[in-house]
Amino acid sequence: MERWAGRVALVTGASVGIGNATARALVQHGMKVVGCARDVDKIRETAAELQQAGAAGQLYPVQCDLTVEAEIRAMFDNIEAEDGGVDVCINNAGLATQDRLLSGSMEAFRTMTEVNILAPTLCTQLAVQQMRKRGVDDGHIITLNSMSGHRVGGLAFYSMTKFATKALNDGLRMELKDMKSHIRTTCISPGRVETEFIPRIYKDDPQKARDLHAAMECLQAKDIADTVLFVLGAPPHVEVHDVLVRPTEQK
Ligand SMILES: NC(=O)c1ccc[n+]([C@@H]2O[C@H](COP(=O)([O-])OP(=O)(O)OC[C@H]3O[C@@H](n4cnc5c(N)ncnc54)[C@H](OP(=O)(O)O)[C@@H]3O)[C@@H](O)[C@H]2O)c1
Repeated sequence: MERWAGRVALVTGASVGIGNATARALVQHGMKVVGCARDVDKIRETAAELQQAGAAGQLYPVQCDLTVEAEIRAMFDNIEAEDGGVDVCINNAGLATQDRLLSGSMEAFRTMTEVNILAPTLCTQLAVQQMRKRGVDDGHIITLNSMSGHRVGGLAFYSMTKFATKALNDGLRMELKDMKSHIRTTCISPGRVETEFIPRIYKDDPQKARDLHAAMECLQAKDIADTVLFVLGAPPHVEVHDVLVRPTEQK
């Protein structure tokens, strides 16, 4: 990870869960991390905690609603003005809802499409543009996929968005190779992780969320942050394509 010290990473969905753990890990390894989410106060708290603990890098909180294209573009413009551009883009923010294909609301499907597909696509496009403009050829795009991006689970529309994540990763790899770029692209596909993800799905039934977490020894956000470190720490000739990580007790 030494080569990443002092370089710029964007982590979307850095307020809680996997994104928060990843932002912490990258700051501890000396990176300048722009962490974005709607609840920017939580990122500010994390930034203060890291600074207090004397972390090698820095966390810069940014409020950004990823359903709003103008907010994403403004965030990238600010990063360019302040630091030149991103070297690493971690498309982490995501959500699922209980809406079923045959009865779900279009509003829920639209939000999942915007946050899980369109935002990572735009962030990837802007990140690669910033890398290429500065001649950065060792940049990295990492997108959070899911086991649900490999087989369709009970939340089928969410699965559809994660199958799209696989297509984003594969398509991006091909376009980068066509450009003779060495920018690398990776998906990480976790099984069940104990974060706010499941409680947010079942916000009307907190007991169900607790039961799902208690049903097995879940992965923790830090386990996925460690996977991010593994991916970024691979030598330049190694492109980790997709990492499937499941709890030992998950089928
Ligand atoms: N937990 C699991 O079991 C699991 C399994 C497989 C894959 N994943 C994937 O891992 C990723 C991270 O999930 P997690 O478990 O860490 O979930 P989480 O704890 O619910 O965190 C989700 C993050 O996404 C952000 N977010 C959601 N909507 C947003 C919006 N409109 N604009 C900006 N940020 C938004 C949230 O921030 P704000 O609410 O503050 O905006 C939050 O920081 C997701 O892509 C998820 O699909 C999770």
